[in-house]
Amino acid sequence: MAHDDRTNSQKSIVAIYPGSFDPFTNGHLDLVQRSSRLVDRLIIGILRNEQKEALFSVDERLEMVREVIQTIPNAEVATFDGLLVDFASRSGASVIIRGIRAISDYEYELQMALMNRRLRPDVETVFLLAGEAHSFISSRLVKEVIRLGGNISGLVPPSVEGRLRKRVLGENR
Ligand code: PNS
Repeated sequence: MAHDDRTNSQKSIVAIYPGSFDPFTNGHLDLVQRSSRLVDRLIIGILRNEQKEALFSVDERLEMVREVIQTIPNAEVATFDGLLVDFASRSGASVIIRGIRAISDYEYELQMALMNRRLRPDVETVFLLAGEAHSFISSRLVKEVIRLGGNISGLVPPSVEGRLRKRVLGENR
């Protein structure tokens, strides 16, 4: 229950936090932690987009996210293809959560939110502000930094860092 004083007649809030998560960063984790406190059930939805060139397969990302969210009891992870709003409906979710880091995110997010609203007006997009410490982190930059030999600790959860080191640097630990 998001609120202790909610009566039985009030329905629980299910939310989807969608994305590519290639890889899942500490910015994503921050959003999951914040949003899991606002809703009853949070489903992290990984887009199955085989056309987009990814560093990790969808199944690897599923495993990666599952490892990281273990300690958040009302969070779970799933994959989807097709329209996000259809996945939301199938899952009984009435809310889509997206994070905004900087003003540069706004235009793309606004466009998606308005399109999703047009497709399914009953699904509401809720924007959460990224924590200041995470507002510069993106999956794309994390991949670039590790590829070029930079330090990514603190940018991704330790288990994700291990996977990145193995995949990009060929480390065996
Ligand atoms: O983390 P990303 O890559 O910015 O996430 C983008 C995502 C997965 C939220 C978006 O591409 C999406 O919802 N794709 C599903 C297809 C869809 O519903 N398209 C219409 C949305 S306007």
